[in-house]
Amino acid sequence: MVPRRTARKRRYLVCPPEYFEVRYAINPWMTAEEPVDSALALRQWEALVSVYRNLGHDVELMTPVAGLPDMVFAANSALVLDGRVFGAHFHAPERRPESGHYRAWFERAGFEVGTPVHICEGEGDFIPVGGVLLAGTGFRTLPQAHQEAREYFGVPTVSLRLVDALFYHLDTALFALDDDNVAYYPGAFSPGSQRVLRTLFPDAVVATEQDAKCFGLNSLSDGHHVVIAQDAVGLIEAVADRGYRPVPVDLSEFRKAGGGVKCCTQEIRRE
Ligand code: ARG
Repeated sequence: MVPRRTARKRRYLVCPPEYFEVRYAINPWMTAEEPVDSALALRQWEALVSVYRNLGHDVELMTPVAGLPDMVFAANSALVLDGRVFGAHFHAPERRPESGHYRAWFERAGFEVGTPVHICEGEGDFIPVGGVLLAGTGFRTLPQAHQEAREYFGVPTVSLRLVDALFYHLDTALFALDDDNVAYYPGAFSPGSQRVLRTLFPDAVVATEQDAKCFGLNSLSDGHHVVIAQDAVGLIEAVADRGYRPVPVDLSEFRKAGGGVKCCTQEIRRE
């Protein structure tokens, strides 16, 4: 029998793609060959925000800053657990100024903000699942930052090694379906980390390379609805078979920068 899934209302922080473009290349998706269609990017982003609002979630807006084209990827700015914020320290010099702007937003909103010493890209590489924090490393966030986050939040933290540059952030290779389970693409992880994932999540939804390359794992679940890249057809079917409700969206313009649904969205967790 397929279990009944329940949604929990979420609070998201997003940043309009006003200055979004591909101006530098810091991951293999970014090339100057295919320029971004800014008008289309804005429409796609607005459609994503409408989906969140229609699902009943709260959406907060960050003010974009000229000259910071990747600021639209709000997920990288922090990890928020229990109403406490652990900020970012970006790998790429081009993105470093983003962290101060996000920090200011969180402080104005009344949050305590911790600052990592080591390279740390927020929810790009940190994914809480139930009471455990999954933490990616290999391309961006350093293992030392996993330890910093563990000490800051006091949650068990499991380090996972990413090995394929196409999946340079943990959130391009894995997402939480709910507090108990995840979907992931094994090929993005080292053999040892694949074994860790199999042990922790024996019942996980295992995605194909094709769906991973469509950014299907850069999805956002509220426990019932899974907002997911529309091209990830196999994964859409797989999550539906498990009782979740897929909500397909098109973020093709953001793929040109190596981003998708989750990259565009920071979750503000109170609990
Ligand atoms: N161009 C950005 C970068 O390479 C994309 C970030 C995508 N964000 C994410 N959470 N995976 O940093």
